[in-house]
Amino acid sequence: MLKLVLLVVVVQAVLSRARTAPKVNLDDVHFLLWTRSNPGNTSYYELFLDNKENLDASPFNPSDPTFVMIHGFAAHGDRDWPVDAKTELLALGSYNILSVNWARLANAPWYPAAVNHVPQVGIYTAQLLDWLKFEGGMDGSKVQITGHSLGAHVAGAVGQNLVAFTLPMITGLDPAGPEFYEKTASERLDPSDAKFVQIIHTNGGTILQSCVGLKDSVGHVDFYPNGGKHQPGCVDYGAWTDLLEGGCSHRRSHDLWVESISGSLSFTSYPCEDWESFQAGNCDSCGQGCLEMGFHVDHSLRGTYYLTTNSDSPYARG
Ligand SMILES: *[C@@H]1O[C@H](CO)[C@@H](O)[C@H](O)[C@H]1NC(C)=O
Repeated sequence: MLKLVLLVVVVQAVLSRARTAPKVNLDDVHFLLWTRSNPGNTSYYELFLDNKENLDASPFNPSDPTFVMIHGFAAHGDRDWPVDAKTELLALGSYNILSVNWARLANAPWYPAAVNHVPQVGIYTAQLLDWLKFEGGMDGSKVQITGHSLGAHVAGAVGQNLVAFTLPMITGLDPAGPEFYEKTASERLDPSDAKFVQIIHTNGGTILQSCVGLKDSVGHVDFYPNGGKHQPGCVDYGAWTDLLEGGCSHRRSHDLWVESISGSLSFTSYPCEDWESFQAGNCDSCGQGCLEMGFHVDHSLRGTYYLTTNSDSPYARG
């Protein structure tokens, strides 16, 4: 099924520039909340914008950091990596974990429609976060967002549209490439969307290269594990198998990020101009500083960073 979906996406992106008129029903956007009081995979509590009674009855704790996750195209907010990350985060500390479930507006195979929905979902999520700050007393200095694929661009739209506070951090996991190479910075994730924007590129390139992520650096720091184009274990039978294997390299970005949460093994990354120099061994010193990619990233450094990983979990090489 996923393979078929990806094929259809490829065909759409290559052949069609036709845009469907945006038809957005924001009731199709759901805000799912997990905390240490309701940690079970399916025991999320749904928050509703402007429903204070519901918020007061919820396990939301305004003094805890709030962690927001946004899934991508043909994905869901109540399963897969957001649930994996929820489990890891709650093992680490007491958080409000919010997953933006916009699956019905991001459903396959209508990629151009999903792209059109990105700004509205971002604005709506920004309204929820502003409201959580004003009405719920949420600490805006302890909010961060992680988005995968199209969800990374939604995260950018959230940061851009917040009025109650400036977003401290966005992590963009292989931000979607198709249709976004042509967009301006304000129409995609960019460094102005948060105080600190970290990008993990795992499938950056063009569709014809079997890539669906942006390869350009679009954050304050951009990590390129294994060169950022194809990941080990995803292209054993040639580049095309990457997309046919369900977007293997594209999905690797969230696997790496989820693994980074526990911090048990570090993704040490080296400042470098490009992958060729890194492979040639020209970047094996830390220069201004090495960086740990992922959840525990240092916010003070800037630039592009390279690293290698294993082809299977655990991916980090310590
Ligand atoms: C909950 O999700 C985690 C991570 O995705 C998984 O390892 C675990 O088995 C799930 N638990 C249950 C009870 O399904």
